[in-house]
Amino acid sequence: MDAYRCIVSKRDTRAYLDKPIEEEKLDKILQAGRMAGSSKNTQPTRLVVARDREWLKELATCGQFTQPLLAAQVGIAVCCPPDGSDFDAGRSAQNMMLAAWSQGIASCPTSIHDQACIREKLQLPQDMQDPATGRKGWRVVVILALGYPSPAVPMSLGKKRVELGELVHEERW
Ligand SMILES: Cc1cc2nc3c(=O)[nH]c(=O)nc-3n(C[C@H](O)[C@H](O)[C@H](O)COP(=O)(O)O)c2cc1C
Repeated sequence: MDAYRCIVSKRDTRAYLDKPIEEEKLDKILQAGRMAGSSKNTQPTRLVVARDREWLKELATCGQFTQPLLAAQVGIAVCCPPDGSDFDAGRSAQNMMLAAWSQGIASCPTSIHDQACIREKLQLPQDMQDPATGRKGWRVVVILALGYPSPAVPMSLGKKRVELGELVHEERW
């Protein structure tokens, strides 16, 4: 699959086969996350990989729409320090989801609404503080749910994207 086809065909898929993800494929996914550029090359993002299905279910209790994690073969928590940018974390997350899809592995980002819950479960470091905002402790930006897509369920809820004409302005808004 070429890069453009991979990007435009990637959908956020929530139902997965009961089939493990091969370690070499997972390695490539993690390498893709590692290679994401970041502001001033600060590389703030860290990843927690969860493979244990019972553990994934427990992590899912920290968010409100975490059903993808219940069926996932692997979850990757994308973690950010208090002074880190969600944009940097997002670049790493999208790299990983595209590297997964290029190998036939579907994914869905899942939001974590209760940060205290996930901090405690994943034992994220709490000793750092951002002097600019006063924000303390690491956070989880998203957990990526990953697995081979189930052919029995549509790959996506099929939500439409805004048309290019609405998305793009020329020279000025
Ligand atoms: C930051 C972020 C958080 C998301 N959180 C959730 C979530 O908690 N649960 C979920 O099922 N989908 C979640 N999604 C997936 C979105 O619902 C999905 O991107 C959107 O519906 C488009 O899906 P499609 O690519 O299949 O059309 C999230 C997506 C993003 C980018």
